[in-house]
Amino acid sequence: MKQRDQWGTRLGFILAAVGSAIGMGNIWRFPYMVYENGGGAFLIPYFVAVFTAGIPLLILEFGVGQKYAGSTPATFRTLKEKWAWIGWWQILVCFVIACYYVVIIGWSFSYLTFSFNLGWGEDTAGFFFNEYLHISNGPFELGGIQWHILAPLAMVWLVCWGVLMCGVKKGIEAANKFFMPALFLMVILIMARAVTMPGAVDGLNWLFKPDFAKLGDIKVWAAAFGQVFFSLSVGFAIMITYSSYLSEEADINNNAFMTAFINCGFSMLAGIMIFSVLGYMAAQKGVPIQEVVKSGVSLAFVTIPQAINFMPGATFIGILFFLSLLFAGVSSMISICEACIAGILEGFKVSRKAATSLLCGLGFLVSLVYTTGGGLYVLDIVDHFINTYAVLLGGFIEIVLLSWFFRLETIREHVNRTSDFMVGSWWTFCLKFFTSFVLGYMLVMKCVGDIKTPYEGYPLEALGVYGWAVVAALPVVAVILAKSDSLGRKE
Ligand code: ALA
Repeated sequence: MKQRDQWGTRLGFILAAVGSAIGMGNIWRFPYMVYENGGGAFLIPYFVAVFTAGIPLLILEFGVGQKYAGSTPATFRTLKEKWAWIGWWQILVCFVIACYYVVIIGWSFSYLTFSFNLGWGEDTAGFFFNEYLHISNGPFELGGIQWHILAPLAMVWLVCWGVLMCGVKKGIEAANKFFMPALFLMVILIMARAVTMPGAVDGLNWLFKPDFAKLGDIKVWAAAFGQVFFSLSVGFAIMITYSSYLSEEADINNNAFMTAFINCGFSMLAGIMIFSVLGYMAAQKGVPIQEVVKSGVSLAFVTIPQAINFMPGATFIGILFFLSLLFAGVSSMISICEACIAGILEGFKVSRKAATSLLCGLGFLVSLVYTTGGGLYVLDIVDHFINTYAVLLGGFIEIVLLSWFFRLETIREHVNRTSDFMVGSWWTFCLKFFTSFVLGYMLVMKCVGDIKTPYEGYPLEALGVYGWAVVAALPVVAVILAKSDSLGRKE
């Protein structure tokens, strides 16, 4: 049998794990999450989520990945034959995420080219929604494929395909060894420039000023857990896959803590960068900061370009910012795709080249829907539902199964075996009691909330088709895949 791929070095693995964790989630989502959920107050649920769920789950996934050394479906099948579909489900979640995540990277690529002459002009909102996206009137009014969005999209798929074809060590590890240091350098450069500008301090005050009243709102807690899961790439196959390429002697606990801390540190850097820039812009315009902040994609593609217009050395800052988005996005995209590729490759006994081409080809076709005039609406709905009912739910089911229907201590013994330091019974407690119950409660509350109030006021049919139906279809397809893969069969 062919030897399983392995990371070349410990640093290579950490950079790849960090590369997966750091992505749009940190630069594009984290600052607006903080903004939407009560400024500095959000940091409390955020860090509670990091320590009680994020890190314990990361250790669990690293441990399970290393111990069973297989793709996610193979790993779940080894844990219990009946659980294979959960592995496939997580892979399908990855696939859905990959198909819209890549589009945002594509937009970043376009915006990188616009940076050279500040091509987004004065009216950055009009430019983004009307001239660039040609946004339609609603989620069912798709319109045709737009070639100027398709071209950068195809390029991003091509880059990912190229890296993934080269395998774990020569492709993924090598790419992250370049992307990660470059990304940190660029973000530190922008931040260093931004914090010294007039008004930046007001932006930072706003970021860190806590509004404790928000802590009573369950939505804020759910947002924090959702953000931590998405950002640490846990609960959707990636970290199990990445750690399956670790050697038997590799450290787990320290690597997990390092990955989480570097990721959170980067989110903080990104938050400081964004809010300094926003503070500066608000000061230039003479308006309160609340008036310049936007949520969602608007923050990256409307507000930031507008702020860049005001900055000295605008072109340079623009290039750095969108290049950062591009690097952060591509390194995460690679990990999302790798989780799927590992599943296909092992599940259907095909070569890496075939699995990579199949995944990237299929993904490219599906992502075409987001290049249409209605693409942004679809993206917004899919993102919301996938994050809540697939990523959070996937993480929840994984935790419940492994801590209640499996001997979690087996994994604790395993991770403590080779790690630089040991995890105590707090780890078991966090997963088995705290996180299981908190997540379960939050999921029910979120579900009730979504049923009572349609997300963002979208028509119910649109939420049904792009949201509930997608979420409901995934486990069905997962069961079919689990029945048809060749993992359980004897050669
Ligand atoms: N962890 C990746 C991100 O934060 C998916 O964007």
